[in-house]
Amino acid sequence: MTSTMEPRTQGQHEARPEPALEAPFQTYEERLRTLSEASVDLHFDAFKDIDWDHPDFAIDPTDERWILPEADVLGRHPWYRGLPKDEQIRIGLYRQANVTKVGLQFEQILIAGLMNYAFSLPNGSPEFRYSTHEATEECHHTQMFQEFVNRSGQDVGGGSAFFRGISPILPLAARLVPFGFFFGVLAGEEPIDHVQKTVLRAGNDMHPLLQRIMQIHVAEEARHIGFAHQYLQHNAPKLKRHEKAVLSVAVPVIMRWLCDEILVPTKKAQRDMGIPKSVVKDLYWDRPESRKMLRDLFGDVRMLAEDTGMMNPLSRRVWRLMKIDGRSSRFRSQPATAAS
Ligand SMILES: [Fe+2]
Ligand SMILES: [Fe+2]
Repeated sequence: MTSTMEPRTQGQHEARPEPALEAPFQTYEERLRTLSEASVDLHFDAFKDIDWDHPDFAIDPTDERWILPEADVLGRHPWYRGLPKDEQIRIGLYRQANVTKVGLQFEQILIAGLMNYAFSLPNGSPEFRYSTHEATEECHHTQMFQEFVNRSGQDVGGGSAFFRGISPILPLAARLVPFGFFFGVLAGEEPIDHVQKTVLRAGNDMHPLLQRIMQIHVAEEARHIGFAHQYLQHNAPKLKRHEKAVLSVAVPVIMRWLCDEILVPTKKAQRDMGIPKSVVKDLYWDRPESRKMLRDLFGDVRMLAEDTGMMNPLSRRVWRLMKIDGRSSRFRSQPATAAS
């Protein structure tokens, strides 16, 4: 890696290890401060920390490294595996670009929501600084993701027409129902983070540009997800009984809806990739492997739902109805087991 490939650090050139984000002796305010300081110490710039013009990072649409890995539900489907190599490559590149595009659209909504949320905070609020750090980092992610999409040469649309249509309204939730909004943040961040970590852990021969983008993203998302968890745990006891009841049922629905927006290809994407309808149905989410992956995506959120009193007999039925029930993680980012 060249020096431009290292994370930017302030005041020194060596990246310091990230401090423990959830030291048990810290108060909520101290934890948010730790997160904020970590954002100052270690952050990435889309155009300084990725050497876009490095020859190794060039996107060649015939490169076999665009073939989807086994960690991807489509990548391990027999229909995909049976395609000629050039088709696997074409679909692989399109798929990666489209997921990236949905991710950046989601982040645009998140940034707008964070601004709405921060606008309403009183002076001295501990959340103001961290939520603004998070928005800054998300701006870099949207630049990084859009640059990847542009360079991929794929004219992808990202999310569904419905999702794009209501995108101006969704950020209002951050002002009106911030508790629900931060669960929604996790609904977008957890599936992307889970998929990226699974791909990175698998250690496939992946394209170095995509690998670099995923490494940067996973590093910063850990803090964002940490903040959402902290916020929700801190504020759950303040909810009124009826608010808790409504949210407990709404959370699994939001989780499943946003997860589908991110992971299930839209009709246009299905047409562009040429995936038969039967395969789409099989993949999202009729196949047992797909079902397991869908459940695995939300292990951490189920743990959080338990911790924040969002699990009750009725909401458990909704989690099951949404097909995202299952064992909760015992700690954040616990890798899914074959049995879960
Ligand atoms: Fe992000
Ligand atoms: Fe994020």
